[in-house]
Amino acid sequence: MNDNLQAIILAAGKSTRFNTEKTKLAETICGQAMILFSTKLMATLHIPTTVVVGYQQEIIKKIIFAEHNDTITCAVQEEQNGTGHALACTQELWNNDYILVMNGDMPLVTVTIIKSLYDEHIKSGAAISFVTACITHSQEQSYGRVVVADNCISIIEAKDFIGNLEENYLINAGIYIITKKFLKNYISTLNDNNANKEFYITDLVKIASDNGYIVTTTKASFDDICGINTFEELSTIEQIKRLEIIKHWMKQGVRFSHPHQTHVDTTVIIGQGSYIGTAVQLRGNTIIGKNCTIAEFSSLNNVILENDVTIHSHCVIEDSYIESHADIGPFAHLRSNATIKHKSVIGNFVEIKNSVINTETKIKHLSYIGDATVGSRVNIGAGTITCNYDGITKHTTIINDHAFIGSNNTIVAPVTIGENAFTAAGSTITADVPTNALAIARSHQTNKHNYAQKLKTTSVESIITPENNSDTFSFIGARCIRSTTPADEQ
Ligand code: UD1
Ligand code: CA
Repeated sequence: MNDNLQAIILAAGKSTRFNTEKTKLAETICGQAMILFSTKLMATLHIPTTVVVGYQQEIIKKIIFAEHNDTITCAVQEEQNGTGHALACTQELWNNDYILVMNGDMPLVTVTIIKSLYDEHIKSGAAISFVTACITHSQEQSYGRVVVADNCISIIEAKDFIGNLEENYLINAGIYIITKKFLKNYISTLNDNNANKEFYITDLVKIASDNGYIVTTTKASFDDICGINTFEELSTIEQIKRLEIIKHWMKQGVRFSHPHQTHVDTTVIIGQGSYIGTAVQLRGNTIIGKNCTIAEFSSLNNVILENDVTIHSHCVIEDSYIESHADIGPFAHLRSNATIKHKSVIGNFVEIKNSVINTETKIKHLSYIGDATVGSRVNIGAGTITCNYDGITKHTTIINDHAFIGSNNTIVAPVTIGENAFTAAGSTITADVPTNALAIARSHQTNKHNYAQKLKTTSVESIITPENNSDTFSFIGARCIRSTTPADEQ
């Protein structure tokens, strides 16, 4: 099939109905740019392909190049004068006997549809063959209607259609195979006498039919050929794609608690026996091992999980690697190259950035660990912060194996805490802590005996000094301490 067939994908349009001033073909569906669904389909079928670009062509070219390198060529349609004009812009590149033309906004088209259109085209010796589908009256009205009258077949665009669109439910899908010879002879006969003042590719059908050429059609399911002109259509199609992906993983032994409320990108891989909770988002190059649990409302983007990992609810994890039997969350934020090793526990309200947390370490509550290497079997107390940034440069914290970091520590990097070292709760660690040492870095506590009672019995008015007439009780207390009993511990 690829010996005499080449594909032209139309992707130059302005995407006016998206109303974003951006090309819709770069919008993603389950993580993949819309245009790539068609180009990858052609690559699967080994059909040499040209993409017609125009509006925001640099964006589309970049997407295509990143996926296909130089295996796909681009042709430019400088002004967007319609689908017929877009095809005309590729004339120089018509090398094969048959030209497959497809809109770039149809991400659900299957290999079977293309193959049956091709078979039909060859079998019938047609000048032009195209795919049709039936819609129910309530469905999208913007499709071109296929009209057969007086032995002549034509496609009439919705805007140009006279009569009741709902009674004409046979629509043009937007996929055509055209014999090169016919195309070369007739492409110049297209005109823009229509509601949009555009050159329509669809007029080639009537031209072929009027001139006695064979025209054939192949029917497909509307669900496979629906196009995307609006965000509403994008969301409908993305939901179809999502469910297709989720059904695939369910067949591989993955349990989804609410498949309709879960997002999985095309690129994600999920291991057998894993459980995916409600409203979980799995994006990018995320790979989940076997028997993992991702609880409700967690979101993973470019994350690798080994087997038996538990991610509790409401975690946000990006660009990270998590080893087997680790336990994360709820409400944890792991990002920018965080590595959590075997059996480590990262608890609630913990953020970890660009750090390695070695095996069986516990960071269970309210902490920020950034640009750090934390050893094995370390315990990090609640409220620990690595101060990694001095306003100009990021600095590294090293916490060695078996260290115990007390609660509410402020660890000012660069700093190293030795093996088996201990830091007292509430410490601000600004210097290295040797192996096996205890570091206490906080001010001494002063107990003012019976002072509480005195505070309660002293009237507020009597302790306000004339020079500082503050009206907050706590400040009055501080003044009182300074003026009457300096450093008195009795
Ligand atoms: C088109 C068909 C319609 C069919 C429908 C199926 C025409 C005139 N109409 O309508 O019969 O039912 O698809 O989805 O073809 N493009 C260009 N250059 C342009 C204009 C468009 O490259 O100057 C590209 C767009 O980027 C898009 C594709 O062609 O990928 C189709 O254009 P679009 O405007 O979406 O056509 P529809 O109105 O959907
Ligand atoms: Ca369209």
